Amino acid sequence: MRTPIIAGNWKMNKTPEEAAALVKDLIPLVKDAKCDVVVCPPAICIPAVKAVLAGSNVKLGAQNVHFAANGAYTGELSAAMLKAAGCEYVIIGHSERRQYFGETDKTVNQRTLAAVAAGLTAIVCVGEMQDERETGYTNILVTYQTQMALHGLTKEQVAEVVIAYEPVWAIGTGLTATDEQANETIGVIRKAVAAVYGNDTAEKVRIQYGGSMKGSNVKGLMAQPEIDGGLIGGASLKAQDFSEVVNF
Ligand code: 13P
Repeated sequence: MRTPIIAGNWKMNKTPEEAAALVKDLIPLVKDAKCDVVVCPPAICIPAVKAVLAGSNVKLGAQNVHFAANGAYTGELSAAMLKAAGCEYVIIGHSERRQYFGETDKTVNQRTLAAVAAGLTAIVCVGEMQDERETGYTNILVTYQTQMALHGLTKEQVAEVVIAYEPVWAIGTGLTATDEQANETIGVIRKAVAAVYGNDTAEKVRIQYGGSMKGSNVKGLMAQPEIDGGLIGGASLKAQDFSEVVNF
């Protein structure tokens, strides 16, 4: 059985002070969670959030990582830096990185390899745009994105990776994939893992849904057999809202 994992992606929201206040409010609300709980604040908030999370069941993640160990990469952070700052997880290849910052399947792969090598759990994002769904390319696309992102990892490493299926048209729009749509595409992603790494590995990989997931729709999504959790944007920015997702 796969342990569900609910992660909050705060994106570019919250100052360090606001971030600390949010997790302070969150901790008592999610202390009995039956799933793994992760928050991914902006990098500048990581120290403040880490200090508040000490001794709680809420884990810390980052929103991006560079693939090089160090060097002339202005504005970037290495996996070792994130690890040293107390991160256990890192989101890689979010559609906003792909759309606005030129992230490619190749760099997503490089970042995933670096994160895993440093002992971080990668949350690798895949998902189609609206026109790709409409033209019938969703399955081909998520298969390609998934296999490319994981290329070069061992079976054992792949089993520990978390994949987030985020249909781009459902992010921040209020549109959610139906429970069945999300389950079906996540099933396709699991088959894409199985095709390269075998069924045993694919059955261990946790695959989240992301895209306007919130308290009012979490139950239906989590009842689907393929869906192992959620990557939550808007609804992770308030303690009460996020706790409703975590305590599904
Ligand atoms: P929303 O939950 O705001 O749609 O964002 C989803 C997301 O992109 C999480 O990474």
